[in-house]
Amino acid sequence: MRWLIRNTGLIKRRSLSSLQMADLTLKQAKSRYSELVAELNEHSYKYHSLDKPIISDRQYDKLFDELLAMESQFPELIQADSPSQRVGSEPISKFEKVKHRVPMLSLSNSYSEEDIFAFDERVKKFLSTSKDIEYFCDLKFDGLAMELIYENGLLTQALTRGDGFTGENVISNIRTIASIPLRLRSENPPSLLEVRGEVILFKEDFKLLNEQQVELGEVPFANPRNAAAGTIRQLDPKIAASRRLRFFSYGLGESPDFKPKTFEDMVSGFEGFGLPVLGLAKKFGHNTRLSKICASAAEAIEYYHAIHKIRHALPFDIDGIVVKVNEYKLQAALGFIARSPRWATAAKYEPEQGQTIVEKIAVQVGRTGALTPVAIMQPVDVGGVTITNATLHNQQEIDRKDVRPGDTVIVHRAGDVIPEIISVILDKRPSSSKRFVLPKTCPVCNEMVFQNEGEAVSRCMNPLCRARLKESLKHFVSRRAMNIEAIGDKLIETLVEEGIVTRFSDLYRLTYKDLIALERQGEKSTQKILDNIEKSKTTTLSRFLYALGIRFVGEQTAKLIAKKFGNIESVIAATEEQLLEVDGIGPKVAEAFSSEFSKKKFVAEIQALLKLEVLPATEISTQASDKLSGLTFVITGTLPMERDKIKTLIEDHGGKTSSSVSKKTSYVLAGDEAGSKLEKARELQVKVLDWPAFQKLISL
Ligand code: IVH
Repeated sequence: MRWLIRNTGLIKRRSLSSLQMADLTLKQAKSRYSELVAELNEHSYKYHSLDKPIISDRQYDKLFDELLAMESQFPELIQADSPSQRVGSEPISKFEKVKHRVPMLSLSNSYSEEDIFAFDERVKKFLSTSKDIEYFCDLKFDGLAMELIYENGLLTQALTRGDGFTGENVISNIRTIASIPLRLRSENPPSLLEVRGEVILFKEDFKLLNEQQVELGEVPFANPRNAAAGTIRQLDPKIAASRRLRFFSYGLGESPDFKPKTFEDMVSGFEGFGLPVLGLAKKFGHNTRLSKICASAAEAIEYYHAIHKIRHALPFDIDGIVVKVNEYKLQAALGFIARSPRWATAAKYEPEQGQTIVEKIAVQVGRTGALTPVAIMQPVDVGGVTITNATLHNQQEIDRKDVRPGDTVIVHRAGDVIPEIISVILDKRPSSSKRFVLPKTCPVCNEMVFQNEGEAVSRCMNPLCRARLKESLKHFVSRRAMNIEAIGDKLIETLVEEGIVTRFSDLYRLTYKDLIALERQGEKSTQKILDNIEKSKTTTLSRFLYALGIRFVGEQTAKLIAKKFGNIESVIAATEEQLLEVDGIGPKVAEAFSSEFSKKKFVAEIQALLKLEVLPATEISTQASDKLSGLTFVITGTLPMERDKIKTLIEDHGGKTSSSVSKKTSYVLAGDEAGSKLEKARELQVKVLDWPAFQKLISL
C-alpha cells in the first residue's frame, strides 16, 4: 500500500494537530480539507506521473494521516477525489454494465514494411492526395483497453471495452492506480472527457506478482496481460490495490469541449490534465522517443524498426506500434470500415518465438506437495535467451493446450521473462503420441495425490515425501527465511537422499563428522556450514514462522502474525478466531495456519527446534501485555510523547485508540491545552487521564 500513499508538492503550512482540528468549525474544516485533498493529489502527481517528488514519504504520510483524521471526524466532507478513496473500499457484488457513448473499436493489422506502405497508400487514395501524410506513432501496449470518464473534471466511471459497445464499470479497481488522476488538473475542465488507454502491468511487477502467487499456493499468471485483466475483473478492490497496475492514455472517446486538432495536441492536452501518457523515454533508461510524429510512411517504418530493437528493454510488453493519421480533420474524412478506423493501423512484430520438441513432461513436487508438470524441451534460442523448460501449471493447462511428449511446439517468453508453450504443431505430432495425464500417485513417494475442490492443482499430502522435504528444507534455509547461506540445494539433496536429514531440526543436529563424511566435502566449507547453522539460531519470530513453510504464509503474513502474538508460545496457543482478528489475515490463511498448528508432530518439531536453541525473537513491537484489552482511548492535547508512539504503546498493551470521544470511549488521555475533546469527555462523563495517571495504568 505504501506506494499509493507516497510522495508528492509543497507543504504550504504546518499540518493541523488533532487538538487544533477539534476546534475547527465545519466551515474551516471544509476549507482545510479541500486544501489537503488538492495538495495530496498534487504531490501524488509529482511522484507518480512526473517522477519528481518534492516532499519526503514521511511528510506525505503526515498529510495523509491528517486527511484520514479529518475524514473520520467530518465524514460528511469526504470528496470523491480524496486519495483515501483509492484504497480500502469494500468488495462489490458485480460490475455494472454501461454502454459506450462512442464504440471502442479494434485496429486493422499490419505485419511488415509492405503492409505499412499499403496502409499509407490506402489513406492517400481515400483522401485523393499524393502528399505525404503525417503520422502519430506510438507503442501498442499489450494490456487491457480502458475508458476513463471524467465529468466536470471528476473521474466518475472506468469502463472495460467489453464487446466494443457495452463495457463494465470497474472504477473501484481503476481508482487504485496511483497515476490515474481522480480529478483532472484543470481550473476549467471539460464537462465530459472520455480518455482511452491501456491498463498494463510492468514486467518487473508481473514477476513479483507471480512469485507471490506461487508463495500463496496459487497458479501463476501466464503473462502480464492476463494478470492485468484478471486483476481488473476482481470484485475486491484491495486485490487491485496490492498489485501495481499502470495506465497509459492513447485516445479519445466523446469530448464535446475538448477538441484537439491533432493527435499530438490530444496527447499534450492529456499531459496537461495530469493523465499518464507515453513519451518519457528517458525514464526507461534510453533515448529513443517512445511516441513520435512521423512526416511520412517511410519515417513511420523507421520508427517501427527502431522500437523493435528496444522492445526488450522496455519495462512493459508491447506487441507492435500503432500508426495513426495525426490530423483529426483527416481522421474524420477517413472514417471507419467495418469495426476499424481507416486512419490507423497496428503494425505488429512477429512475436519472438522458437520451435522445439518436448522431450518429456516431468512432474515436480513442490514444498506444499503441489504437482507441477514441466515440459523439458530441446534447447531453443528465443530473443537471445535459451529456453529448455516451461511450466505447464496443471492438468487443465495440459488439456487446454494438449501438449504431449514428442510434440513439436512453439515457445516464447511471457512478459519477456517466463518461458511458455504457446501451441502444438499438430502436423508434426508422432502417430504414437498419447495424451499426458498427471499421475494419481506422487512420482517421488508413490503415495496417492489429492485434488481439493475448487483447486486446479493436485497435491501429494505425505508429509514425509522426500520431494516435499527437500523443497521445504530449501525454503527453510533460504535467505529470507533462516538464512543458512552455506547450505545449497545440492547439499540438501544429498542430506535427504542419505537419510541424514528428515526434518528441519535435524539441520541443528548435524555434526562435523556427519558432514565431512559426505562426498566432496572439504574441511573449510564444513566448518562454514556449521558456523552458518549456529548463526541462524538467533533469528526473528517472523523469519521463523515464514521458514516453517505453512501454506499461504508468506513473509508478509508471517510478519503480521509475529507482530500480533510476539512470541512463539503465543503463536502455538493462538486460536483460529484470534488469527482472524489480525488485520490482513483472512479465513483461508487462518484455517491453514491453525490446522498446521493443531498437528502434534508439527508442534513437537517446533519444540525440538527451540530445545536445540533456535531462538526466534520478535523484531517489531510486540503485544507487551493485555492490560488495556477492551479499552478504547482518545488522545488529546500536548503530551510528552509523540502521538504515534502513544498509540503504539496502547496497542502493545491490547488497547485501541479512536479520534473522537463517544460513550464507548473508556478514557480520554488529555495533555496540556486539551480542547473540545476534553469538554466532550466531561459532558459524556468519560474518565480523563493525565500523563502520570496513564503511565501508572500501563505499568500496573
Ligand atoms: S489507438 C480505434 N493506440 O489495441 C482504436 N490502441 O486493436 C484506436 N492498443 O483496443 C486505438 N495500444 O486496446 C491505440 N497506442 C495505442 C494502443 C492501442 C494498444 C489496443 C487498444 C485497442 C486495440 C486495437
